[in-house]
Amino acid sequence: MTSAAMSLVLSGRYGLDPAQLGDWRIEYAAKTRRRALGLDSSSEYDRKLESDGNEQLRLVELLLVHESSFLRHKRSFEHLRESLGNGRRNPTRHRPLRVVSVGCAGGEEPYSVAISLLESGVDPEAIRINAVDISPAVLRRAAAGVYSDRSVREIPSEVRRRWFEIEGEGKWRLKEPIRRLVTFQLGNVLEPVDPRLGTHHVVLCRNLLIYLAPAARERLASLLGRTLAPQGTLYCGQSEVLPLSRLGFAIEDRRALALRHPQGRRP
Ligand SMILES: C[S@@+](CC[C@H](N)C(=O)[O-])C[C@H]1O[C@@H](n2cnc3c(N)ncnc32)[C@H](O)[C@@H]1O
Repeated sequence: MTSAAMSLVLSGRYGLDPAQLGDWRIEYAAKTRRRALGLDSSSEYDRKLESDGNEQLRLVELLLVHESSFLRHKRSFEHLRESLGNGRRNPTRHRPLRVVSVGCAGGEEPYSVAISLLESGVDPEAIRINAVDISPAVLRRAAAGVYSDRSVREIPSEVRRRWFEIEGEGKWRLKEPIRRLVTFQLGNVLEPVDPRLGTHHVVLCRNLLIYLAPAARERLASLLGRTLAPQGTLYCGQSEVLPLSRLGFAIEDRRALALRHPQGRRP
């Protein structure tokens, strides 16, 4: 059974749904942390958890899913290029064009945005890309900028050669011109003041909402509503179109998983 202290941390602070995670997974994560700290009993660990914010994050890190890859759900990046690249909706209309990746994992998503925009001829000086994640471990990966064959498999080989160098057997290092376009930030997007994201023309929040309990989904949708500029586009994950449309977003292109604010109304 998940203890009251654990439930409070998981659902209160991080918006996770203990029932969806499952008692077994939570207990396994707690046992791993208890052993790492050399604590004998569950009640000792609960007390530690209640009083130590860093320990709360360490436990949650063991329960979060950080899976990502470059150009994941390609159709969204095609949509982004079609709407912003070379002309149709001229990005210099918004100068700079502001993009944010919410729950950016190891940087694959915001770096994919940078590659897609540069490949479609957008001036790098005209874009600002922010990226936020709660996990220090994944942000260290993003800063290192080294990825596996599997992670870059969707990038056409000539594009890969332009923006990556071979780091070793099956490893690819992202080149500086792409890396310098993304600013990473550590933060819990469910906490009211941190991060202060500001308004963006493109928001990507993909495969994060699905892991949250209903009340936390509403908090996240409200943050996304405040973060997205009125004419901007929100890209979400495959199973997130319906929940987000129920929470007030309008569907712009279902195949591209692209959403908008309903006309004149903010969720
Ligand atoms: C499954 S990954 C998705 C990565 C990427 N968006 C994609 O679709 O490929 C979800 C990411 O959201 C992050 N995350 C979960 N809860 C968060 C929160 N409250 N604040 C910020 N990031 C969070 C996790 O650490 C994880 O890296």
